[in-house]
Amino acid sequence: PLVAAVLAGGVGSRLYPASRSHRPKQFLSLTGGDTLLERTVARADFADRVVVSTRPAFADAVHEAVPEATVVVEPAGKDTGPALTYVTHRIAERFDDPVVLALPSDHHVAGDFETPARRGARVAAETDTLVTFGVAPDRPDTGYGYVEPGRDRGVYAEVAAFHEKPDAETARKYVDRGYYWNAGIFAWTPAAFVEAAGAPDSPLSPLVDALDQGDPEAGFAAVDPVSVDHAVLERAENVAVVPLTVEWDDLGSWDALQRILPADENGTVVAGDAAVTAVDAANNVVAGDDVHVSLVGVEDLAVVAYDDRVLVVPTAAAQRVRELVSDLESSG
Ligand code: GDD
Ligand code: MG
Repeated sequence: PLVAAVLAGGVGSRLYPASRSHRPKQFLSLTGGDTLLERTVARADFADRVVVSTRPAFADAVHEAVPEATVVVEPAGKDTGPALTYVTHRIAERFDDPVVLALPSDHHVAGDFETPARRGARVAAETDTLVTFGVAPDRPDTGYGYVEPGRDRGVYAEVAAFHEKPDAETARKYVDRGYYWNAGIFAWTPAAFVEAAGAPDSPLSPLVDALDQGDPEAGFAAVDPVSVDHAVLERAENVAVVPLTVEWDDLGSWDALQRILPADENGTVVAGDAAVTAVDAANNVVAGDDVHVSLVGVEDLAVVAYDDRVLVVPTAAAQRVRELVSDLESSG
């Protein structure tokens, strides 16, 4: 069967202060309507089963938000490498011959997702490769991983190399060379994943061994937080890329709203229930609930006000909000 594994355990630090440790980004709507998590589970409805994987602190909130999904609770929040190792292991225990379709819960997707997703899952099953879905870039974004395609195999291309989050100059080079963005959506069989994650030099191998011995707690204690991109995709030999032919964006940082939401004649984009008065202001993002924001003579800023917190950041530096993460974690 095709089993969708939705990742809903991140803290969403770049969306502070809407995203807080008690209310991370997957439980927000941002663009209006359903939350990002609800939209992700709905997008996966063609799968035979949908599993949502999360850390202990968010387990109740996930159950409540998507009661129809099976919830897997990781022993600890250790980023996507350990999370996907654990959920892949659990899926292998419960299903015969599963293909895992890993889906982050912070994406905007419009168009036919099912067709490319099924295509990728088929490639994963038939070739025993780790399949990543690639998006054709339209700008040198430094918030994404880049996939360097190798030999073209028709439906998919072999991956020559995987480059996680480059600096701006390197990103420009990658765009010019026709690399893909890594959508962060993956398909694999448990066997192909475990072969890569359990390799002796893999940072995840202590976890793979502990899971084999039936001790997930010890396994999570034995590994440091690491993304699946660094721990597995960058190191594995057998990676394939399948184009993701939909409108796609990662809603993980404030600048993303400028690309998704309609702007007024001054280029102002408003999320949530914020009201805005603008004088001689251009291309700003305003987000907040029940708040009135006035902008005078400023450009290219994100101004975000939730609860008793205010964030002001140039949209071009929106990725840097993650540098506040220690504040986010200590302030709840
Ligand atoms: N279950 C679980 N446990 N989920 C987690 C954890 C965890 O410990 N940590 C993060 N997640 C979830 C987040 O909630 C999100 O849905 C997803 O995993 C991806 O995490 P992000 O933190 O948003 O990753 P990213 O956007 O910086 O980078 C990844 O996605 C990009 C595209 O959106 C990478 O795969 C990049 O290479 C890729 O370009
Ligand atoms: Mg993301």
